Amino acid sequence: MESIKIALGGFGTVGSGLAKILDINADRIFKRLGKKIEITSVLVRDLNKKRAFNPGPNVTFTDDPEVLVNDPNVDIIVELMGGLDTAKDLILKAFAAGKHVVTANKHLLAEHGLELFDAARDNHMGLMFEASCAGGIPIVQTLKESLAGDEIVKMLGIMNGTANYILSEMTTKGMDFQTALADAQDLGYAEADPTFDIEGFDTAHKLCVLIRMAYGVDYPLSDIPIQGITNVTPMDIEFAREFGYRVKLLAHVMNVDGKLEAGVHPALVPYTYLLARVGGNYNAVRLEGNAVGPIMLHGQGAGDLPTGSAVLADIMNLAKKMRCSAFDPDNSGFNNQPIAKADILPPEESESKYYFRFTVQDRTGVMAAITKSMAEHNVSIAQAVQKGESGAEGVPLVIISHETSARNVDAVINEIDAMDFTVEPCVKFRIL
Ligand code: NAP
Ligand code: HSE
Repeated sequence: MESIKIALGGFGTVGSGLAKILDINADRIFKRLGKKIEITSVLVRDLNKKRAFNPGPNVTFTDDPEVLVNDPNVDIIVELMGGLDTAKDLILKAFAAGKHVVTANKHLLAEHGLELFDAARDNHMGLMFEASCAGGIPIVQTLKESLAGDEIVKMLGIMNGTANYILSEMTTKGMDFQTALADAQDLGYAEADPTFDIEGFDTAHKLCVLIRMAYGVDYPLSDIPIQGITNVTPMDIEFAREFGYRVKLLAHVMNVDGKLEAGVHPALVPYTYLLARVGGNYNAVRLEGNAVGPIMLHGQGAGDLPTGSAVLADIMNLAKKMRCSAFDPDNSGFNNQPIAKADILPPEESESKYYFRFTVQDRTGVMAAITKSMAEHNVSIAQAVQKGESGAEGVPLVIISHETSARNVDAVINEIDAMDFTVEPCVKFRIL
């Protein structure tokens, strides 16, 4: 019986999740493909590690990437290791050896995606990466196939399961940041280095990949303004709740008069919005096409089976097409053309409403000085509240602004942070 042979680079959360789905859904996969999918070999770092799931007696475990690349029976190499150098090397060698590649590695795609697209095209190989963005949510194929004819006006979403899990647990259970992060790690949601999750880098990697799929241009990672969730405190979550918001880590990109504006920031989301209700490891992406209008995709953004499901969909997609003689994959979704740099709106020109939390001495003239500085920099105040006990060294003074530019906000904060009544630097978040 004809079968598709795959080799896995990595057998951690996602690799073992994929192997489990291949096992439990084997009949369904065969019905769809008319072929079996077989794992031939698995590349790991530590051959002595005890594995929670056994992929079967015929699977070879190795710590040598060449075993995967040099096996003439392997059709597809599935890169699920993470990291940059070894993963990139494996993928480039796979293309050179005439093997298609499926990867979940958004970091690698964000940093070296253009080179990988070129190598795949030059070797007429498929490079698929549904699992790299928003876990189990089919966002890559939605942009590439389902919305292929739409101009994407705006894309906005929660794209990191770990950060969303932490903020949800802090909001709904009052859990502290470190305990919530440790839970997310235990559940297999976090990156090997969780700094990527909590500092917003992982979200930025996904945004970079999705901008290519949505617009066919490259918005370099280094140009994306990134703010993580490490300075979101229980106090900010409570103030946000009082004003009618939930705090979420959002990625956004939009077309502003022909230029792209993108960023990753914690933001206050009105509690009535669907995005505010996305909890735990779930992600959600709201897309707005010029023809289709708004679309919302929601699902688990991290974890073994959800992510394995997206990896498997890519493998099956390739398996259906790869033995046809005319198969020449268009991996970027833009007719295999070179991807030009995006025309980028300077980040300081981007407009938003803002939440400011100043920590100031509780004395006469402070509010007047702050409102004067805001007025002088064109930041219009919508709401303000001061809390705290008299006698405390610093009290929180929270201001919600109307829409203004990031340039104005930075000018205000620089000025007020330098004033003699300021006890701690201002904390600011965007408001959706
Ligand atoms: P993981 O649990 O840490 O597993 C990584 C696997 O790769 C392990 O089996 C490890 O071997 C192997 N490995 C790592 N470096 C290696 C090297 N240099 N040589 C050989 N083997 C190596 O990671 P994961 O959570 O499954 O994530 C894998 C990839 O999927 C990453 O790119 C991640 O960003 C992405 N992703 C993860 C999720 C998720 O929910 N976890 C969701 C979407 C995308 P050992 O087992 O011997 O240590
Ligand atoms: N660490 C990532 C997250 C995995 O928490 O979203 C999914 O990409």
